[in-house]
Amino acid sequence: MQPDEKYVFSYKGFYFQPGVASVEYLDTLEDFEIRDSDVFLVTYPKSGTIWTQNILSLIYHEGHRDGTEKVDLLDRVPWLEYNIRNMDYISRPSPRLFASHLPYYLAPKGLRNRRAKVVYVARNPKDVLVSYYHFSKVAVKFEEVEDFGIFMEKFLAGKVLASLWLDHVEGWYSHRDDFNILFLTYEEMKKDLRSCVLKLCNFLGKRLTEKEVDAVVDQATFNKMKADPRANYDFLPPEFMDYSKGRFLRKGTVGDWKSMMTVAQSERFDSIFKDRMEKLPIKFCWDIHEES
Ligand code: A3P
Repeated sequence: MQPDEKYVFSYKGFYFQPGVASVEYLDTLEDFEIRDSDVFLVTYPKSGTIWTQNILSLIYHEGHRDGTEKVDLLDRVPWLEYNIRNMDYISRPSPRLFASHLPYYLAPKGLRNRRAKVVYVARNPKDVLVSYYHFSKVAVKFEEVEDFGIFMEKFLAGKVLASLWLDHVEGWYSHRDDFNILFLTYEEMKKDLRSCVLKLCNFLGKRLTEKEVDAVVDQATFNKMKADPRANYDFLPPEFMDYSKGRFLRKGTVGDWKSMMTVAQSERFDSIFKDRMEKLPIKFCWDIHEES
């Protein structure tokens, strides 16, 4: 069951999106020059990337988000491996914020000097799967798989963009000592966003007043972000997104997998993922009523 080359290509064992990333460009990333002040937000897709992109941007640009700044997220926290806007990353002023889905072994090697910062956000993989399934319909360049069961098999086999969820999370966790890294989960952000914002500020060495922290938390809520075109991906052109099929900010909840997966599918999922997940130094929250 190989994925269609129209939608993904393999580079050093990881699936990338053709058209927006090329082998030549990816070859340059290993030596991409890292500054101590750089911040990389790393995630597996559908784990809360845009949410954390927005939070990072709010923390760094506090005071500027007064409704006059017309800079959208892609320009504030651009993708390292998908330089969609052809920005000049080299001459970008510090501190540079980047988002990335790269696996740990393809990250620029300068990140291993443990000075630049990495924020890794993980999410319960069943919610990731369900979010990914819906997103594949909205994202024009993704393979649309109508049947959820078939999509799940592709996800469990890692035959999707960004490859296997387990490899991604496990890779970054098991190599955490090589990086200056903070791990967060989507679920803890849902449960107590303010604490997560404070944790981020602490890690990033940013001192915000109580009022500024409140403003970040307020502007990072699901509804505020959904309504703010600069904080969601509504600006992406029709060649990327078909908004007649849904939105990037879809539900934003914990435990939505329960509304999609049958008991049999959930058990099948567990039979493939459970053993390796239990070894991860992180406890995933499966329901909003559970302790994360
Ligand atoms: P759902 O599809 O479950 O709604 P990514 O940015 O990594 O692709 O992740 C997208 C997921 O994060 C979507 O999940 C989206 O709704 C959710 N999300 C984005 N912003 C959010 C916010 N402010 N609060 C909660 N969830 C958010």
